[in-house]
Amino acid sequence: MTTMPPDGNLWFASANGAGRQPDAHARPSATEGTHARVGQQPAPRGSSPYAQPTEPSPVQYPRTALHPQDAALLRRSLDELAPVASEATGYFYSLLFVRNPELRSLFPLAMDVQRDRLFHALLTAAGLAEHPARFTEFLSQLGRGHRKYGTSPDQYPVFGECLLAAVSCWAPLSWDAATQAAWVRAYTAISQTMIDAAAEEARRAPAWWGAEIVDHRQRTPDVAEITLRTDRGYPFRAGQYAPVETPWWPRVWRHYSFASAQRGDGLLTFHVKAVAGGWVSTSLVRRARVGDVLRLGAPSGTMTVDHGDGSGLLCLGGGTGIAPIRALIEEIAVHGGRRPVEVFYGAHNRDDLYDLAELRIWEQRLGWLAVRPVVAAPPGSNGALPGLLPDAVRRFGPWHAFDGYLAGPPGLIRSGAEALLWSGIPQGRIRHDAVAELTGAG
Ligand SMILES: Cc1cc2nc3c(=O)[nH]c(=O)nc-3n(C[C@H](O)[C@H](O)[C@H](O)COP(=O)(O)OP(=O)(O)OC[C@H]3O[C@@H](n4cnc5c(N)ncnc54)[C@H](O)[C@@H]3O)c2cc1C
Ligand code: HEM
Repeated sequence: MTTMPPDGNLWFASANGAGRQPDAHARPSATEGTHARVGQQPAPRGSSPYAQPTEPSPVQYPRTALHPQDAALLRRSLDELAPVASEATGYFYSLLFVRNPELRSLFPLAMDVQRDRLFHALLTAAGLAEHPARFTEFLSQLGRGHRKYGTSPDQYPVFGECLLAAVSCWAPLSWDAATQAAWVRAYTAISQTMIDAAAEEARRAPAWWGAEIVDHRQRTPDVAEITLRTDRGYPFRAGQYAPVETPWWPRVWRHYSFASAQRGDGLLTFHVKAVAGGWVSTSLVRRARVGDVLRLGAPSGTMTVDHGDGSGLLCLGGGTGIAPIRALIEEIAVHGGRRPVEVFYGAHNRDDLYDLAELRIWEQRLGWLAVRPVVAAPPGSNGALPGLLPDAVRRFGPWHAFDGYLAGPPGLIRSGAEALLWSGIPQGRIRHDAVAELTGAG
């Protein structure tokens, strides 16, 4: 049976253990209206009928999980929604902002990039129902990432109501009472995990850091090297990246990889390539000046080095993908080096290998580092290897004794990962940033 879209009165609540009822699967009854109660005391008379701020508790998470049966129902809705995801997302945000105009200011003026990421994230969460630890890790990361947007726990219930209204409206064939109940439970688990992780991180780190540009130099007409001083200590690891917001595009965040390891002077560097028509990259390359202040969100990314492990590193960096690779080299040098590091540095042509001269100097100083430039056109100019990066890596293999590190455009990550697998490096020893994020131009 298809029910009406929830009319703003679904009741999302804290998944905090204490109030959770075993019969959380209960369907909303006529006497309850359409309230779907999710294990929480009723709101006091006169207060909002919706879940009140899911107070983050000091208790350790994970305390939430997604039931595989609920995940299956979510997936069914999301499958039905897929062909109309863009319309459903548009409807969702319209509803959210009409019902809660105060939330509009959290979002950028244009929201194209964000559009289908919400449903994509829900699909990912549903896919992790059988893996509670990964479910928690994924959503904790998402929840921590939301701190820089200025989200607060009390916004999650209204967000959830609009979300369910959109799903019920745009996936009507799979919408029934059981599906609605599954969505309520799932959204509660998802949002509580995000809220808890954000609250836990808020105890030890700010939502964002101010970062003043102290140096801005043009490495090529399109690539700028930007050095920043943060207003507070900003701990990060080589191989990670930071979300960056500029004063020219408020609330538009883009990721940039650290081009340096953590330094004693507290400065950090990015290499930014201006993408044609790109809002943030073009501003950073062509408009930003010394003295401008950016914002950085917390660092993330798992392309880090385990310094307790002595195996060699095989690194592929395409374009500004060389930035995190040079950071890794710096960090390894700080830890005493002594493990072979083989770098394949690729670009379209020789002039785009803007960091090669400096890497060559490092190569002479550091006995364990070898750098091989690779250019696609014109083939092999000025001593660089000819062709594409993955092919060059294949030619020099096998690489059984190495861990693989990949950074650059999504196409390179995909083809590079295939080349590394082919060259004898198992999947579990290949590290790169999430391709899904890269394709989102974020
Ligand atoms: C984990 C991670 C690390 C990153 N590290 C770096 C880094 O160190 N240096 C760096 O310069 N960039 C890096 N990026 C890319 C960066 O986050 C932005 O996507 C990029 O700067 C474009 O943002 P924009 O606002 O200028 O363009 P947008 O306004 O988002 O996009 C404008 C147009 O350009 C297209 N576009 C976006 N990115 C690219 C691209 N790379 N190539 C071709 N077309 C594109 C879009 O599809 C759109 O049509 C990284 C991305 C991720 C996910
Ligand atoms: C289950 C709940 C939620 C999920 C699954 C979710 C998911 C996402 C995802 C995947 C993104 C893309 C960027 C990123 O990864 O950070 C995003 C961005 C964002 N979310 Fe959420 N979100 C949720 C709840 C909320 C709530 C309650 C708010 C507050 C109103 C909110 C506000 C934002 C904002 C402001 C952005 C940035 C938009 C942009 O850059 O275009 N989200 N969210």
